[in-house]
Amino acid sequence: MKTDDFNFLVEFAIKAPSGHNTQPWKFENIDTGIIIHPDFKRALPVVDAENYELYISLGCALENLLLAAKQKDYKCNVQYPENAASSIIIDLTKDDAGKGTLDILFNEIAKRQVTKSKYNDKPLSDDVLEQLGSCFKFEGISMRILDSKKDLENIIPLIIEANNLQFNNSDFLNELVHWIRFSKNEAEKKKDGIWSATMGMPGLGRLLGSLVMKNFVTAKSEEKRLIELLKHSQGLAIFISDTNNAEAWVKTGQAFQRFGLTATHLGVCHAHFNMPCEEIVVRQKLAKELGIENKHPLLLIRYGYAERMPYSYRRNIEKVIIKS
Ligand SMILES: Cc1cc2nc3c(=O)[nH]c(=O)nc-3n(C[C@H](O)[C@H](O)[C@H](O)COP(=O)(O)O)c2cc1C
Repeated sequence: MKTDDFNFLVEFAIKAPSGHNTQPWKFENIDTGIIIHPDFKRALPVVDAENYELYISLGCALENLLLAAKQKDYKCNVQYPENAASSIIIDLTKDDAGKGTLDILFNEIAKRQVTKSKYNDKPLSDDVLEQLGSCFKFEGISMRILDSKKDLENIIPLIIEANNLQFNNSDFLNELVHWIRFSKNEAEKKKDGIWSATMGMPGLGRLLGSLVMKNFVTAKSEEKRLIELLKHSQGLAIFISDTNNAEAWVKTGQAFQRFGLTATHLGVCHAHFNMPCEEIVVRQKLAKELGIENKHPLLLIRYGYAERMPYSYRRNIEKVIIKS
């Protein structure tokens, strides 16, 4: 496709969220459209051994790309990955029939962020909840909202169990520390990873930051922080897939991205509480708790109102383009 249009689409695709902000994607310009390839050099083998979060991240990038393509009057056909090693192929054809029918979510792409701070106690109106509840339609993907005190209390033991598994695993902690950027300088230089300021942490620098993470952040201190964050959230949105394969993961990512963009449009903040989905034993217990034993809860998202945090960085597009 035309280089200018390709670059435009990729610029918007890479604003998508990704686990630990690894940006695990590569984009290839082909005659018929674009291929989004997984970049397994940026995988997270400890927290995401299955690569399901990697494919969810690709789904988020895909949804942004499709919104940008619509903006440029392209009609799109998506060929989903056949397995957890394959790519997403997007056929794009110019289609003036849809000219002028813009999607309001396109304007939210640059404003969206995962807001990792504590939220205030302002409730969401029924109208806002209704709009969040109907922001996507993908076969086999659904979303469940938990906002009663009792439902949230039932989830807490699962959050604690998964958190304990993760924070008592030195490989998990090493992987996390590897992807944290402990100063503005480091974040600006690498343009990936979790910048400490996005979590409300002071810029300690790598040496001191790693020391603090490995010696003072414990399963217990993290548990206390998580319960406090949950207490100030207005609810949890759980993204559930009927199947557990690469196509379903990509569609879950698309659904989540539409949720994030719709929330941004409505002034609502959101962030992940994914640990019960990431730890497979706990995921099964979560499915049981929700009464969906044969389905797969893949993302757990808290939401509420808050001030915006600093934005995460992205690598420049030349780093993610495959030259053919
Ligand atoms: C599949 C996926 C899993 C994520 N898991 C977590 C998580 O467990 N905890 C968390 O705080 N953020 C999580 N995030 C949010 C990322 O850290 C965030 O998207 C990334 O740092 C980029 O920031 P931005 O989305 O604000 O641009 C996840 C994002 C995705 C797409």
